[in-house]
Amino acid sequence: MNQRAVPGFLFLGFFLWGVVTFGCRRSEMSEPIVFPAGRFTSAQQCGTCHRDIYAAWRGSQHARAIENPIFRESYEEAAKIAGESATRLCRMCHAPTVVLTGDHTLAQEVTREGVTCDFCHSLTGIDLERREHPFLLDVGATKYGPIRDAASTGHRVAFSEFHLSSLQCAGCHEYRNAHGVPILSTYSEWEQYRQRGGDKECQHCHMPQVLANIVDPKVKRVQGAFVNLHTMPGGHARDQLVRALEMRIMEVQRTPRGVYVKVRLRNVGAGHAVPTGSPTRKVILRVEVMTGSGQRVRQERIYQRIVLDQWGTEIRRDSLLFTGARAIARDTRLAPAEERVEEFLLPVSADENLTITAALIYLYSPHERPETETRIEFLSERRELFSRWVR
Ligand code: HEC
Ligand code: HEC
Ligand code: HEC
Ligand code: HEC
Ligand code: HEC
Repeated sequence: MNQRAVPGFLFLGFFLWGVVTFGCRRSEMSEPIVFPAGRFTSAQQCGTCHRDIYAAWRGSQHARAIENPIFRESYEEAAKIAGESATRLCRMCHAPTVVLTGDHTLAQEVTREGVTCDFCHSLTGIDLERREHPFLLDVGATKYGPIRDAASTGHRVAFSEFHLSSLQCAGCHEYRNAHGVPILSTYSEWEQYRQRGGDKECQHCHMPQVLANIVDPKVKRVQGAFVNLHTMPGGHARDQLVRALEMRIMEVQRTPRGVYVKVRLRNVGAGHAVPTGSPTRKVILRVEVMTGSGQRVRQERIYQRIVLDQWGTEIRRDSLLFTGARAIARDTRLAPAEERVEEFLLPVSADENLTITAALIYLYSPHERPETETRIEFLSERRELFSRWVR
């Protein structure tokens, strides 16, 4: 949309908002709102009727996708390094309404809402071959969703099988750059999960059903009162991380060269690799031995996808990934349903009492600055090994 069209849009928005708030005050709605064809509507308007869903979405990373400070730092850096063509790409997923409105200066409220209600509920399909704009959209009057028998005096509704499937998420959670390097591959990892017998869609794990109202009961009383959780917890959420992996210390043994430790990991709870998403995300397995006299020895294994730039150097910042990546050096992440056994030999010599701990840590450091990193220790196990002499 061009600049001159903005005031018109605002006026229309205000008009609609009036209709909506007026409508909601009555117990039975009779006047249907007609959302204008070809225009996105702000989440705030959807929220006047879909209160509970709005509140959940507000707390999601989706709602903050274009405004959160971690993203912002990376985005501004990308602008400096690679210019407008790079940030245009960022906006395709972080402020996706621009693909239709062309509001690249983020002037409209609905653009600043990031991954907003009306974008997801106007999606009718996806074409992953179209890298720069994979979305098939029908924007405006009809809202597409998972309810087969929805009846809304609020707006036109249409049942959509697509919204029950992982494809709904694929447009943004899967991306190969212009050099053919997979930057985000959560969707294709999910396909691998399915091949290995997994039976859940993204929504089952990230949008479980919770007790709440689909719409304000003043607008319509709906039986059942369940909605799909729109906060969409992911790797920043400890609860999700704990579910993803299983860890066990299988064996600890003194040897002449130190302590031998065997740890088994299994990806039991994620419908994709762990970690998934951006290659700057890591999971670290840290094994540490502490002796009775306070000596500590630790070793680590890192699970990560390592991406190289045109000079063969590892890319460690999100801002450089999308445009700069030329090759994958290696991928040590835990594939769906994978089991892996790791062995460690920690050089402690003294025959003392020993405490051995194994811990899993999620680490996300998008700008290589400790102040902006997320570090979550989510699983740990401990073993004691007593000395024959000290005991
Ligand atoms: C005036 C109140 C009102 C407003 C405003 C409103 N809705 Fe609705 N919406 C409803 C009602 C009522 C239903 C029907 C619920 C049912 O039958 O279970 C509904 C149903 C839906 C459904 C389910 C459709 C299906 O078949 O699964 C979706 C998706 C939806 N709305 C999205 C939106 C979005 C996005 C917005 C903002 C652009 C919005 N709604 C604004 C009242 C409203
Ligand atoms: C229009 C693009 C788009 C669509 C469609 C989309 N996402 Fe996202 N998603 C994003 C972006 C962008 C982020 C990162 C936001 C941020 O943190 O800045 C994200 C973040 C997430 C996160 C991470 C939250 C966290 O705590 O790290 C999860 C989980 C997620 N999405 C799940 C889903 C699921 C499930 C679907 C499908 C039902 C979906 N997304 C559909 C763009 C999208
Ligand atoms: C990232 C995409 C995405 C965003 C953003 C999003 N939704 Fe949804 N929504 C979905 C999906 C997918 C489902 C269906 C989940 C299922 O049934 O498995 C759904 C379900 C619904 C339903 C049907 C009731 C239910 O919970 O199943 C309504 C109504 C709805 N959304 C409204 C909204 C509103 C209002 C907003 C913004 C405040 C919003 N959605 C934001 C993807 C999204
Ligand atoms: C069987 C359950 C399950 C399924 C299916 C599933 N996920 Fe996840 N997801 C998880 C768990 C558990 C985590 C936390 C561990 C991790 O970060 O890998 C997670 C993490 C994530 C993250 C966070 C990445 C980060 O580090 O912030 C995103 C994004 C995500 N999932 C998107 C998706 C998408 C998109 C799909 C479908 C294509 C999907 N998930 C399918 C369970 C699932
Ligand atoms: C194809 C869609 C897509 C494009 C293009 C894209 N992103 Fe993202 N971005 C995502 C998704 C999805 C996530 C959610 C987490 C994940 O999968 O790692 C995300 C997460 C992020 C995060 C982490 C935010 C947080 O709070 O955890 C940063 C930073 C980021 N992106 C920066 C960028 C920059 C800068 C650009 C442009 C150069 C860009 N992204 C382009 C989809 C995209």
